Amino acid sequence: MSRPTLRAIVVGAGGLGRVWIETIQDFEETEVVGIVDVRPEAAESAAQDAELSGIHVGDNLIEALDEVHPDFVVDVTIPSVHHEVVIPSLEWGVPVLGEKPMTDSLEKARAMVAASERSGKLYMVSQSRRFDPNLFAFRELIRRDAGLPLGILNADFYIGHHMETFRHGLEHVLLLDMGVHIFDKARFISGEEPVAVYCEDFNPSWSWLQGMSSASAIFEMTSNLRFTFSGSWVSEGHHTSWQSEWRAVGPDGTVTWDGLTEPVAEIALAPEPGTRLSQFESRTLGAIPEVEQQFAGSLREFVRALRTGETPMGECHDNIKTLAMALGAIQSAETGQRVPISLE
Ligand SMILES: NC(=O)c1ccc[n+]([C@@H]2O[C@H](COP(=O)([O-])OP(=O)(O)OC[C@H]3O[C@@H](n4cnc5c(N)ncnc54)[C@H](O)[C@@H]3O)[C@@H](O)[C@H]2O)c1
Repeated sequence: MSRPTLRAIVVGAGGLGRVWIETIQDFEETEVVGIVDVRPEAAESAAQDAELSGIHVGDNLIEALDEVHPDFVVDVTIPSVHHEVVIPSLEWGVPVLGEKPMTDSLEKARAMVAASERSGKLYMVSQSRRFDPNLFAFRELIRRDAGLPLGILNADFYIGHHMETFRHGLEHVLLLDMGVHIFDKARFISGEEPVAVYCEDFNPSWSWLQGMSSASAIFEMTSNLRFTFSGSWVSEGHHTSWQSEWRAVGPDGTVTWDGLTEPVAEIALAPEPGTRLSQFESRTLGAIPEVEQQFAGSLREFVRALRTGETPMGECHDNIKTLAMALGAIQSAETGQRVPISLE
């Protein structure tokens, strides 16, 4: 017997809103029944381009909720206003799948988590970059071959991005925008949580971005792990992958991942007598095929949670820890101090 289709309102019909409309329409268990944007013409043109007629299109979220009674809301507005979509939706009584970063301050984030608790409705943040078969393989290879706990984890992200949209106005654009993806993956890969951070962010002389385009950060994580991150949005040539380049060092060896292809482990074998350096054996695992990519994977995770009541990846009580890493790094960059990261 086929399961009832879950009906969604998409709020925010900008660049990524259109991707979400397509993703929801493409998934056999979901459909778009409303599009809301403070720019009603953007909502209208997104509906037309997706060939959706007869759905609710407008600029008022509550009116849309009252008219359509959706099964869930997808929030694809900009970070500074996510709370203005998420809290009223939860209070109205509908679960929310929201874009990253959860928001731009811990105060707003705590209010969003509290709204989820009060309403008893799920609020999941879509960290789409977790949904990658090679990332799952990297995580698995670390556990199988390098061993836990990790002692060292490093991520490098270098892409020259001539970006438009709201990102231009973000003061700490690398840390709050792409940083959130990378910090979230560090938590996922290592299984550890942030303790403290020291970070500097800056603009090289040629930067075409107003906000801080480049950063270096050292996170202390639980189990004495050090996670180091360096990256830039204004680095031309020798780009890394969008997933970053990773190195994870555990008690038994090292796993590297270029963010694109199969991760590779090198496991230490005992040094030959009289030599100082270990021998190594290379091991691979292959991508974990059942992991669906990016937004489709994230939507499937959310729908599974709605249907089963299980807690999905990115549930707000968990995702606020990812946001705390980004906001801690920003606070450190602004104050020049090492900042403890409070998860309370
Ligand atoms: N997961 C990813 O890989 C990924 C990629 C791109 C963007 N994003 C995230 O998606 C979100 C949107 O990004 P974008 O690139 O589409 O931005 P965008 O600026 O292109 O679109 C945002 C839209 O939201 C609308 N909007 C603003 N305030 C609103 C409100 N209060 N109510 C209703 N609509 C409102 C704007 O009019 C605009 O149409 C951001 O949080 C961004 O970080 C994630």
